[in-house]
Amino acid sequence: MEFSIKQGSPDTLKCGCVVAGVFANGKLSKAAQILDKAGNKAISALVKAGDITGKCASTLVMHKVPGIAAERILLVGLGDTKELNEKSSVEILRATFRALHATPAKDATLFITDEGAGKDTAWVLRQAVIAATEGAYRSDNMKSKPGTAATLKHVTFASLEKPAADLAHILKKAAATAHGMDLAKLLGNLPGNVCTPSYLAQQAVTLGKKHKAIKTTVLEEKDMQKLGMGSLLSVTRGSDEPAKLITMEYYGTDKKQKPIVLVGKGITFDTGGISLKPGAEMDEMKYDMCGAASVLGTMQAIADMALKLNVVGIVPTCENMPDGRATKPGDIVTSMSGQTIEILNTDAEGRLILCDALTYAAKFNPDTVIDIATLTGACIIALGHVASGLFSNDEALAQELLKAGTESHDRAWHMPLWDDYQSQLDSNFADMQNIGGRAAGSITAASFLARFTKDYRWAHLDIAGTAWKSGKDKGATGRPVPLLTQYLINRADKK
Ligand code: BES
Ligand code: MN
Ligand code: ZN
Repeated sequence: MEFSIKQGSPDTLKCGCVVAGVFANGKLSKAAQILDKAGNKAISALVKAGDITGKCASTLVMHKVPGIAAERILLVGLGDTKELNEKSSVEILRATFRALHATPAKDATLFITDEGAGKDTAWVLRQAVIAATEGAYRSDNMKSKPGTAATLKHVTFASLEKPAADLAHILKKAAATAHGMDLAKLLGNLPGNVCTPSYLAQQAVTLGKKHKAIKTTVLEEKDMQKLGMGSLLSVTRGSDEPAKLITMEYYGTDKKQKPIVLVGKGITFDTGGISLKPGAEMDEMKYDMCGAASVLGTMQAIADMALKLNVVGIVPTCENMPDGRATKPGDIVTSMSGQTIEILNTDAEGRLILCDALTYAAKFNPDTVIDIATLTGACIIALGHVASGLFSNDEALAQELLKAGTESHDRAWHMPLWDDYQSQLDSNFADMQNIGGRAAGSITAASFLARFTKDYRWAHLDIAGTAWKSGKDKGATGRPVPLLTQYLINRADKK
């Protein structure tokens, strides 16, 4: 999908479909008024007849209206201006692109910039680009006969007045973000027998080949052994697929500038190991690498934007399988940090691979480290599927991430990380145990990670509830690529 910005009038712009808004009670937006006038009152006639009410997110397509250069007009209900908010704005944009993708139009022109839609133009533009790209996303690449690709290939954001100068930059960044989400969704949706640790490593190598600014390296199990990553390696013991530790280094500015490090959980399938998960919905544990996928998607996005920032993406990746060699409950392992861990539940494996990756991250002398993980079912109980859980050892960093989440409509919620929770991880036999009991499950998981991140500024995003959708609409969401990308854009702008 391509995007561009243009100044023009809705009646004279030639394209497959021109989009204009109608408010509640049939009040026409500026663009709709111009179309109505040029089209011999065709729109107001439909309002009078009751075909158009302006109900929020309703749509109506008109064909070949005399006096209008575009082949079609798509009217979109904007509802009551007073009731417009982020949620309804996103719903309106989704409905717009659902309707557009259902027409054979190859290109479309939107006049959202004149509508306001309750938010500033940049915000609407970003959400529109994401909605357009999501509408074109297909998850049928594994079917023997994949369906046809979306026909809509080009979207123009037009305005009556000269568009603001910075809009083109915002649009370019939004497109890169949406493409990054696409990559994260593609990887997330692939089944565990295709998207193995080796496959993820290959994808990271491909990313490094595509972008001159990204350098990818892959460590093998023998390398991890040498580094003393006993915790990470304990998770992969039951699997026949070799574990990998992927590093993607992006240098967008002076190499001396400390990097921001992103660490993504890459369990390509989580059976639970010897602490085997119940069978129902276990297929969804192919999504246990969505943290890793979001790191790849974000690396691609920032390289596309040529952000002036240094960022390192680290992905520890393996399977969590039960077999004769698999780690058993009660086993004690030594992490790269030297701290010993009593593994009381082999299903709490995410923290076991992350802790060694987080120790390894220090090697890059980081400014900030952020890990992203589908870490706990408890996080879904706490926050549902709306917000990701945010934990941090630095208040300012937490605030920056919350702000990026709001700006990108990919929100997180700040959870506590007080020392008071640490005692739940005390073990009689090792420095710590890997589970903290039923209470505050997402917090004790984060508290476990906090024991390995004392030397730098760190945040943890638990995306168990937000990385994918279950049920009829099962599929990866591409989150939190928008949040991470927005945070990095903000960081690059600050310098
Ligand atoms: N990958 C899961 C967390 C998960 C479960 C994410 C369901 C999304 C949906 C993680 O490895 C896990 O199994 N966590 C356990 C931890 C427990 C054993 C302390 C959990 O949440 O049940
Ligand atoms: Mn698990
Ligand atoms: Zn897991």
